[in-house]
Amino acid sequence: MTDLLPPKIDLLTQPLHLMNGGVIRNRLAKAATSETLATYANNPTPNLVRLYQRWASTGIGLIITGNVMIDRRALGEPGNVVIEDEIDLPVLQQWARAATDQGAAIFVQLNHPGKQSTKGLNASNLAPSAVPFSQEMSTLFETPREATDAEIRDIIRRFGRSAGICKKAGFSGVQIHGAHGYLINQFLSPHHNRRTDEWGGTAEKRRRFLLAVYTEIRKEVGPDFPIAVKLNSADFQRGGFTEEESLATVQALVNAGIDLVEISGGTYETGVAKPQKASTLAREAYFIEFAEKVRALVKVPLMVTGGFRSAAGMNAALRSGAVDVVGIARLMVIDPDVPARLLRGLDSKQCGATIWMRDARQAA
Ligand SMILES: Cc1cc2nc3c(=O)[nH]c(=O)nc-3n(C[C@H](O)[C@H](O)[C@H](O)COP(=O)(O)O)c2cc1C
Repeated sequence: MTDLLPPKIDLLTQPLHLMNGGVIRNRLAKAATSETLATYANNPTPNLVRLYQRWASTGIGLIITGNVMIDRRALGEPGNVVIEDEIDLPVLQQWARAATDQGAAIFVQLNHPGKQSTKGLNASNLAPSAVPFSQEMSTLFETPREATDAEIRDIIRRFGRSAGICKKAGFSGVQIHGAHGYLINQFLSPHHNRRTDEWGGTAEKRRRFLLAVYTEIRKEVGPDFPIAVKLNSADFQRGGFTEEESLATVQALVNAGIDLVEISGGTYETGVAKPQKASTLAREAYFIEFAEKVRALVKVPLMVTGGFRSAAGMNAALRSGAVDVVGIARLMVIDPDVPARLLRGLDSKQCGATIWMRDARQAA
């Protein structure tokens, strides 16, 4: 990486103070990685506690859990954790403490898959509108039914309830999953959301669901509990959620009081978190150009995830001023102890170039 300046480890190790309370001890975060380690009935397990103890012991600042579902009737994958009541509070408390006892912040990523759930997993899948998947996806994913207004309002309440339980269990915050083609992203997308009621029809109405979820969560958790969001820079789909609408959505969330915005991109149909250009791949951070546009608009802390692999790349992104938190997912899976090295300015010993070579071929 000849275009990157030498690493300045002081940037990656700087603490971050969030607006509604909470301090993240440094700028390195594990992005959400769905571990599917729950029981068959979707209860959290001691295996999750052990895994998060290991990740937190590396000195990492923030850990975002794999996506946790807010409704047992709407799973994204078998083995998802579901939080819809307090039945699992003791294990949830252990899961939270696995990180917080070691000084790491831990946010639960709350999600509803909408139509993005494979055939047969749920009794039926709902979405803003009954739009079929592309032909190659339709063997695995069925056309959803259109959600009723009452169902939409129930889902909003469920997000709030789950977040309230996360707070009670001792987690440091929650992250709303608004990216990667799941339900909230489906509402944001003009392609997936063809509604003409108050939940669709204009960009403002399409983002009303996300803002209602945020407001409901804030009502449940109070003013001093961090709420983050993961949002697509764009869906990269004809007629999908665009950069322009994403910028307007970030602005609306900032006006509402969001603490942290994580930027990603893509959906199951277009590919999740893929680099769009070879030039972004060279800068490691796939979505940094969009982060620069967000930074020009708002001051909210920005987490950028996708493509980071070296300490130099991470520090260069932080030095650009557009990124406040560096998110890593595949690196944490390949090399669970990598934060300890990155925070000292060293790269992973484990990680070969394989996955990023594949990305380079896709972006070329
Ligand atoms: C095994 C695995 C599971 C993932 N699960 C989730 C998830 O539950 N929620 C989410 O927002 N992103 C999920 N992602 C996407 C990552 O958070 C991240 O956006 C993406 O992998 C790009 O970052 P990376 O280049 O550091 O891997 C997952 C990625 C991997 C590899």
